[in-house]
Amino acid sequence: QTATDDYYTVTAEASETQFLPGKKTKTWGYNAGFLGQTIVFHNGKHTHIDLKNTLPELTTFHWHGLNVPGPITDGGCHAPVYPGKTNHIDFDVDQPAATIWLHAHPCPSTATQVWKGLAAMVLIKDDVEDQLPLPRNYGVDDIPMVLQDREFHEDNQFDYRADYDPDGVQGHTALVNGTVNPYFDVTTQRVRLRILNGSNRREWRLHFDDDLEFAQVGSDGGIMPAPVYLTKLMATCAERDEIVVDFGNYQPGDEVTLMTDDTPLCHFRIKAFEPDNTKLPDRLVDIPDETPTPGLPVRKITMDGMDEEVAMDHKKFDMQRIDARQKVNDVAIWEITNTNSTKNGMVHPFHVHGTQFTVLARNDGPVYPNEHGWKDTVGVNPGETVRIKVRFKLTGVYMYHCHIIEHEDGGMMAQIESY
Ligand code: C2O
Ligand code: CU
Repeated sequence: QTATDDYYTVTAEASETQFLPGKKTKTWGYNAGFLGQTIVFHNGKHTHIDLKNTLPELTTFHWHGLNVPGPITDGGCHAPVYPGKTNHIDFDVDQPAATIWLHAHPCPSTATQVWKGLAAMVLIKDDVEDQLPLPRNYGVDDIPMVLQDREFHEDNQFDYRADYDPDGVQGHTALVNGTVNPYFDVTTQRVRLRILNGSNRREWRLHFDDDLEFAQVGSDGGIMPAPVYLTKLMATCAERDEIVVDFGNYQPGDEVTLMTDDTPLCHFRIKAFEPDNTKLPDRLVDIPDETPTPGLPVRKITMDGMDEEVAMDHKKFDMQRIDARQKVNDVAIWEITNTNSTKNGMVHPFHVHGTQFTVLARNDGPVYPNEHGWKDTVGVNPGETVRIKVRFKLTGVYMYHCHIIEHEDGGMMAQIESY
């Protein structure tokens, strides 16, 4: 322990949250009533965290997107924190600036705990990102946006069981950072939105109501090699997308709305701001193109089925079983096939713990324009095969699974040992 280390306490706690007029909703959160306070890590720092569980049941603290030394730090189902207990983890932050997140991951009740609110945004900072001409004044022009949907029942309560669907629970009300029908006052010309799809199942198809173009500058694992200019952005579960929006063509008093399909998500109210004509560079960061380790066979993985029938490689998850092994620092090609029918199958967002990967191909063709950066979650379409390149820098047992959380809880999950 040194004075330059970072220290945090994260408490999972029960509370009540005012979402709608009338009764408050019983919720869970991290140092907060619902979701959590944003946590900021610094690349290169040794980081200590006390994980405190004041809930009436066991939970875990999973750092989605973080390179961690093994399953206990990772906080998947191997790392329970029992009610009334506090666990301690510490690790070196060793990865580029990124928007990652924390969520509960006790198997098989990840989905219900996240539904109650156990998810929070985590930012990693570093010197490289610090030098880029990107908005970074947190809360002013650098804004976290956790997108979720919830169903409100009698007395404004959640009722996970009533809404249960083995293909993923959805609700009719959109929440942004736990707020129904939010607005944001735009006081700078450029605003950076760190979007997290924190839904259990829903995909978000984002666009502005006037089709304003924006620049995507970051994906799951950090800043992308180059900005990608878009008017539509599709986010599958657990994906993060950092976008920079330039409001230079609006006047004070204007309003522009971020939509998902035809549903308004967030109203941006334009206020007076100083002109800021900073242009994004054509290149942002370098992502090394690591050569696959010679002689390694391609790892073939299938994501199978829907509803109760879901499986990974035709098997249900078993915490006692190691499904695969990969040598630390080997650069391996994984081929993930969604065996659902192209007619009525689902997109399965494939997530690997404990590392960031790159996406090489979709059905032997090109990847989406915004998939050239580090990723930890990739949507695999029905009938599609997605090829990714995976290296674990640390040893340990890491899970990989569908991030439709009910599919994960339902067994579309496996684990690999990095040795
Ligand atoms: Cu976001 Cu296994 O988790
Ligand atoms: Cu799935």
